[in-house]
Amino acid sequence: MSKQPIGIFDSGVGGTSIWKEINMLLPNENTLYLADSANAPYGLKTKETIINLSIKNVEHLINQGCKIIVVACNTATTNAIYILREIYDIPIIGIEPAIKPAALNTQTKTVGILATKGTLSSELFHKTTDLFASNIKVIERIGEGIVELIESGQLHSEAMRNLLKVYLKPMIDANIDYLVLGCTHYPYLMPLLVELLPNNVKIIDSGEAVARQTKVVLEKNDLLNTSLAKGKCKFFTNGKTEVLASILNNEFEVEYLDF
Ligand code: SIN
Repeated sequence: MSKQPIGIFDSGVGGTSIWKEINMLLPNENTLYLADSANAPYGLKTKETIINLSIKNVEHLINQGCKIIVVACNTATTNAIYILREIYDIPIIGIEPAIKPAALNTQTKTVGILATKGTLSSELFHKTTDLFASNIKVIERIGEGIVELIESGQLHSEAMRNLLKVYLKPMIDANIDYLVLGCTHYPYLMPLLVELLPNNVKIIDSGEAVARQTKVVLEKNDLLNTSLAKGKCKFFTNGKTEVLASILNNEFEVEYLDF
């Protein structure tokens, strides 16, 4: 059982930011990554569509023998995780924006959050914000267009720089000292964000926390791969294989799959 892969899915290539953290913490685990790029972005879709796409992805990963599922997509987590956990018996890990650490540590009592419409309008997001950030100011911005640019291989484009400038301006004007990245595509924007934000603004995402949680859940369920060999990592996309390969620095083979 323990040699079965960890199944990870995202609306596209962004969830590889989570896969990287998992692979770093658990290098002996076999992993199977599914990029549903043909349906990206999820962020503008209805809750019902996000749930149906998430079920399709989980079904595929379970059919491939995955022992645990990591929903490496904020939009899918915030809209579908409860339902996925109701339907499937195997452990399912989700990812939520790191509002709590930002709210606990902000000195200016003002934090920014960049996420998709689907995440920012979800019940789970509102619950988390009410619980941890009710006494501070939260500047929310929908990162419209960012996922599309990344999925079309325009991560380092002028268009991306211009979009980010627009989204960050009200946050900078409001004197944020934390920016929470609420979408797994966004950690790939780190160099640009560092350049565009004032030096005192800390940027946080949930990748490391998700990897740690994955390890804890595997241990608790006696599912850790105890092999000393390096794990095998497989990547599948129903979109452009070259975009996924490039985000992985062309270090892995990527297969096209019509799932
Ligand atoms: C999207 O597909 O719109 C973004 C995925 C995410 O929320 O992480």
